[in-house]
Amino acid sequence: MKKSAQKSHSKKIDPTIRKKWFKDKRWIVPALTASVVLVFTSGAVLLRPPTQPKQTQSPPTETKKILPTEYTPLPTPDLRSGNSIEAVLKNRRTRRDFLDKDLSLKQVSQMLWAAQGITVDWGGRTAPSAKSTYPLSVFLIANRVAGLEAGEYQYISGDRTPIHQLKPIKHVELQKALYEALNESSFKNAPAVLVITGNMDKMAESYGGIPHDKEVYLEAGHVGQSLYLQAESLKLGMVTITGFNEAKVKDLVTIPATDTIIYLVPFGIPKQ
Ligand SMILES: Cc1cc2nc3c(=O)[nH]c(=O)nc-3n(C[C@H](O)[C@H](O)[C@H](O)COP(=O)(O)O)c2cc1C
Repeated sequence: MKKSAQKSHSKKIDPTIRKKWFKDKRWIVPALTASVVLVFTSGAVLLRPPTQPKQTQSPPTETKKILPTEYTPLPTPDLRSGNSIEAVLKNRRTRRDFLDKDLSLKQVSQMLWAAQGITVDWGGRTAPSAKSTYPLSVFLIANRVAGLEAGEYQYISGDRTPIHQLKPIKHVELQKALYEALNESSFKNAPAVLVITGNMDKMAESYGGIPHDKEVYLEAGHVGQSLYLQAESLKLGMVTITGFNEAKVKDLVTIPATDTIIYLVPFGIPKQ
């Protein structure tokens, strides 16, 4: 009995001791709050989506050259003309001699659109493409085009939404060099030349890795005919050229290593 009374007495805590204990442990509340805040903030940092690193330096000159702001927007293509498709088909002819006259940006724009312009919202173009692969690229060598510095450009048609712009590749006079390298009279006076290239790997990818080069060449053929018809409708002259040394062209014109040059198309105002 005495023992149990002693035990119950020992369990009672003296209020002054309890007060002191709480006083000594006052650091617990801020410490717990700090730990909760730390756990939440580190969680937020670890789980947040990756952000782009801040650019502290200006981009290198090569990249600067191809910034979208430096692209040349092309005049909107005309969808009407006074020519029937039948009359254009009837009159279409290869023309290799050009007047010593500049082309307008509007004429060049219309030719580029005829080659690869986007015509529907799913990305379909003026020319058909096997499995909608679009393996072709169109480069423009501008020798004498009003409003364009002489040089090489790439036509940017867009992906789904039409962009219809020219991306500058390099500003350099190529007319004389091309004429001398290829010895083709049509390059002598042509104010502009289109270079149609094809990416065979891109087409092979569409066929599960099996090469389908034929489809790329056929697609370029479709583009060639569209160009002939557009040129005829605009009273321009042109020739599709395949008889060239590809290595010589690649020495002068900047073409991706993945691409094969299929057609060179000098065009301008015809002499006859
Ligand atoms: C696939 C193909 C390749 C051609 N290659 C050349 C060429 O290398 N040089 C050239 O002067 N003409 C070339 N031409 C143009 C043809 O010589 C021309 O189409 C032919 O003389 C018929 O004349 P037409 O187009 O006025 O009907 C080529 C045409 C095609 C379809």
